[in-house]
Amino acid sequence: MENAAGEALTAEEGAILADVARRLAAFDRERANLIPILQTIQNTHGYLAPAVLQLVARHLRLPPSQVYGVATFYNQFRFHPPGRNPIRVCMGTACHVRGGDIILENFERKLEIPEGQTTPDREFSIERVACVGCCALAPVACVGETVHGHMAPSKVEGLILQVRIARERAEREKKDHADS
Ligand code: FES
Repeated sequence: MENAAGEALTAEEGAILADVARRLAAFDRERANLIPILQTIQNTHGYLAPAVLQLVARHLRLPPSQVYGVATFYNQFRFHPPGRNPIRVCMGTACHVRGGDIILENFERKLEIPEGQTTPDREFSIERVACVGCCALAPVACVGETVHGHMAPSKVEGLILQVRIARERAEREKKDHADS
């Protein structure tokens, strides 16, 4: 089996497929199980890889296009591995009217990926989310578990930089520790 890029599966992708194959055995081959299966896989692995969707289609004896169509219909499913620092930009009403879409566009531009995707180094992923519950701080974006209120386009680059600097520092400390 190959991944989305037509390449041989990585060890990580292979391990996910093996786990999914094990989990599928617990589900009857009924179409009604499609969403529960997709939810189980997403909850376990954080996303639905193309090869995984093929495996699900085979198990349920459905055309892969039908499985893909259902998965893409619901925005609860993602198709790329989440970044170590997922960026969630709020698009609830309060944030939207205060320029949430401009914040989203800035993250997309600075990270050079569209919403729904992950940077090649897997550091960041971007997604739009519904109200995160702190409308008084609109517009809001979450980086990892941290909520950033009163977002402005000028703050976007600084937030990305903070994460990159923290990561470099952690890697340096790890290396120093290993060398000592
Ligand atoms: S609408 Fe964004 S926090 Fe409520």
